[in-house]
Amino acid sequence: MIVDLEPVTRDNWRAVAALTVHAGQRDFVADVEHYLCMCAYGELWHALAVTLEGQVVGFCMWAVDDDRSRWIGGVVVDAARQRQGIGRALIKALRDKLAAEPGTPNVALSYQPSNTAARALYLSLGFVETGEEDDGEVVARWTPTVPVVPTR
Ligand SMILES: CC(C)(COP(=O)(O)OP(=O)(O)OC[C@H]1O[C@@H](n2cnc3c(N)ncnc32)[C@H](O)[C@@H]1OP(=O)(O)O)[C@@H](O)C(=O)NCCC(=O)NCCS
Repeated sequence: MIVDLEPVTRDNWRAVAALTVHAGQRDFVADVEHYLCMCAYGELWHALAVTLEGQVVGFCMWAVDDDRSRWIGGVVVDAARQRQGIGRALIKALRDKLAAEPGTPNVALSYQPSNTAARALYLSLGFVETGEEDDGEVVARWTPTVPVVPTR
């Protein structure tokens, strides 16, 4: 599966803001509207719409840390589109895109210890738990062993 990571624009922001997760997942992430505000006003995070065949199916955002590691955050696949391989495709695409930026030591993300679905996804893509903790969340990092060429 190939997903596209696109800017959030005047044309797609409504579809992005309308993304929802299942009731049991609401504690794992903030509302996408909140993430959009963080990206618009917080001067750290950058928003991306995840599209499949032109339709918005998810959201994610990225940031650069002081040590130049890149962070992935706010990962949401719309409840109606989960378990179809979109999460795997989007993490892989964003991971490779960020890792390919010159001077990037690793790509980091974090998740709540109880978020077993996210944990399984990230570990299966080679992210390694480092023992760090960020705001009560487990930190995992992916370090490229060879130069990365982004797939998308
Ligand atoms: C986590 C999330 C992004 C995964 O997206 P997705 O499109 O459903 O994931 P995929 O279909 O690509 O599945 C990838 C892997 O994730 C894991 N996974 C996804 N959903 C799962 C579930 N409900 N239960 C257990 N494992 C699950 C599996 O390891 C799966 O691999 P497999 O299909 O080979 O078993 C999605 O469930 C989501 O948006 N959750 C709510 C928000 C959230 O928790 N975001 C992450 C914050 S750190």
